[in-house]
Amino acid sequence: MNWEEKYQKGEVFWNRGAPSPPMKQYLERHPVRGRALVPGCGHGHEVALAVKYGLDATGLDIAPTGIAAARALYPQLAERLVVADLFNPPAEMRGAFEVVLEHTCMSGLHPSLRADYRRGIDLTLRPGGLLIGVWFINPNLDPGDEGPPFPFRVSDLTALFSHGYEIIEDYVPDVAFESRVGRERLRVLRRIG
Ligand SMILES: C[S@@+](CC[C@H](N)C(=O)[O-])C[C@H]1O[C@@H](n2cnc3c(N)ncnc32)[C@H](O)[C@@H]1O
Repeated sequence: MNWEEKYQKGEVFWNRGAPSPPMKQYLERHPVRGRALVPGCGHGHEVALAVKYGLDATGLDIAPTGIAAARALYPQLAERLVVADLFNPPAEMRGAFEVVLEHTCMSGLHPSLRADYRRGIDLTLRPGGLLIGVWFINPNLDPGDEGPPFPFRVSDLTALFSHGYEIIEDYVPDVAFESRVGRERLRVLRRIG
C-alpha cells in the first residue's frame, strides 16, 4: 500500500474528519495522562483529541502529505505531528511514551505486517504503559473488498499481544462512526515486560 500516493490523490476513504467516538468516550471517562503516541495518525484527529483531554500527544505517520494535511487542519499542533516510520521510530521516540492510542493504524496494515506493528509498539511504549486501542474487529472483508482495511478477529488481537501485555479493559463500545457500528472493540493493554 502506497499511503503517500493515497494522500496525494485525496483517496483517504478511512478519514472520518473527526476523532473516533469510542476513543473520545474512553478519554472522557478515564483520567489518562503522560506522553502519548498516535501511530498512523493520518489527519491527526486523535492527536487533537488526546491534547484536549490532557495528554502530551505526538502523532506519527509515514505519509508526508498526510502529516501536511494534519498540520493544516491543526496548526496549533504542528510540532506534535511528525513524519516517521512506526517500524523504525526515531531515537527520541524509543521508550518515550506512557500511552499509545491506536485507531485504524493496525487495520490499515497487511496482516503480514502485524508483527512489525507489535514491534513498533514495543519500541515506543514504556513498560507499565497503556496501549489504548479502538480495534477494527471483523474477520471478513466487505464483499469485493481486498483491503485495506484488513480487519482482524479478537483472537488475532489477543494472540498478537499474548506475551508482555495484560488486558485491563475490553468491551464493544456503544458509540461509533455509522459505518463501524458493532465492528470495533475497545481494548486496553498494559505493557508488563
Ligand atoms: C487507515 S489509515 C488511518 C489514519 C488515521 N488513524 C485515521 O483514522 O484517519 C492508516 C495510516 O497509517 C499510516 N501508516 C502506514 N504504515 C505506517 C508506518 N509504518 N509508520 C507510520 N505510519 C504508517 C498511513 O500513512 C495512514 O495514514
